[in-house]
Amino acid sequence: MSSQFPVVVIPGDGIGPEVTKATLKVLDAAGAPLEYIEKQAGLAALEQGDDVMPQDTVDSVRKHHVALKGPCTTPVGKGFTSVNVQLRKKLHLFAAIRPVRSLEGVPTRFENVDLVIVRENTEGLYSGIENEVAPGIVTSLKVATENGTERIARRAFQYIQNRDRKHLTVFHKANIMKMSDGLFLKSVEKIHGAEFPSLPYDTQIIDAGCMKLVQDPTKYDVLLMENFYGDVVSDLAAGLVGGLGVVPGSNIGHEDAVFEAVHGSAPDIAGKGIANPLALLMSGVMMLNHLNETTGEQSFKDAAENIKAAYNKTLADDQKTGDLGGSLSTDQFADAIIKRLA
Ligand code: NAI
Repeated sequence: MSSQFPVVVIPGDGIGPEVTKATLKVLDAAGAPLEYIEKQAGLAALEQGDDVMPQDTVDSVRKHHVALKGPCTTPVGKGFTSVNVQLRKKLHLFAAIRPVRSLEGVPTRFENVDLVIVRENTEGLYSGIENEVAPGIVTSLKVATENGTERIARRAFQYIQNRDRKHLTVFHKANIMKMSDGLFLKSVEKIHGAEFPSLPYDTQIIDAGCMKLVQDPTKYDVLLMENFYGDVVSDLAAGLVGGLGVVPGSNIGHEDAVFEAVHGSAPDIAGKGIANPLALLMSGVMMLNHLNETTGEQSFKDAAENIKAAYNKTLADDQKTGDLGGSLSTDQFADAIIKRLA
């Protein structure tokens, strides 16, 4: 490929800029043909006198279609609406795809975990519609639409089909939320019957499903659920394979895709140079594979495979950051990966 492919980079807040810098360093060292267009969002944008979710950032992702994003801080119990939720809604990034895999060199209770969480990303309890209906009484609306539930069901089955995965499990609570989660289940059943009748799927009530997931995650393949459940189960599943430092993600719509780690801005360790950049780097690898699929350009795939082999070797050589029991800083870990690139 002679030219560089433009991707928007949003460093974000807290550990965001640190892990972004380390990730870009590895992407560059692997020869990924990328041109970075840096844009701000979150507290970083506010500090520059901009909106938390600047229109210019949204427009830039719409123009270039692909972004790599660091985490953005959201105030608890007050203040602005989550930048992440805003971005996913504005760009209609309705599917979060989050692979959760065991890594050699990261010992955990279970080996051979290889599951993928497909999370509906724009509806559910994260609709942000909250009201104080009377003094001391507040409501949060859980939104489920036919359109939203059918498109995420279709995306989950497509994922199984295209990636040669084996089985879909749908987590729900339709015994209690009979209408909203009931619609979710109906849509899965409808899309399955009409478009993917030969793919196996089952449904599990989420509380019992979580118990089974922590008892033996190797029994699961692809998990589909609405927004809030997906948020919680993603972190739970991260804990099964080494923590938030090793779980990447993508937010995919029909037009645009934003790649970001599952973790947040980790204010407790921000500025110390010790954050694990691997989850964002893995998200970068997902971005390279996406670019390979959408452009047909082989050099993206080559860079992705090179980086994956290098970080696997780095971990297998016991070179790790503190969250995984090692002692390397963010930069030292990035350098250790770069040293192992082909
Ligand atoms: P968090 O994911 O930022 O941190 C949870 C724990 O995991 C902390 O102890 C942190 O130090 C550790 N951790 C997370 N990422 C790590 C990494 N790469 N390396 C080493 N340790 C890591 O979750 P928390 O504390 O609940 O949220 C902090 C802020 O992040 C909040 O404002 C929240 O709204 C925001 N957030 C943003 C997300 C996004 O931008 N996509 C996602 C989740 C949270």
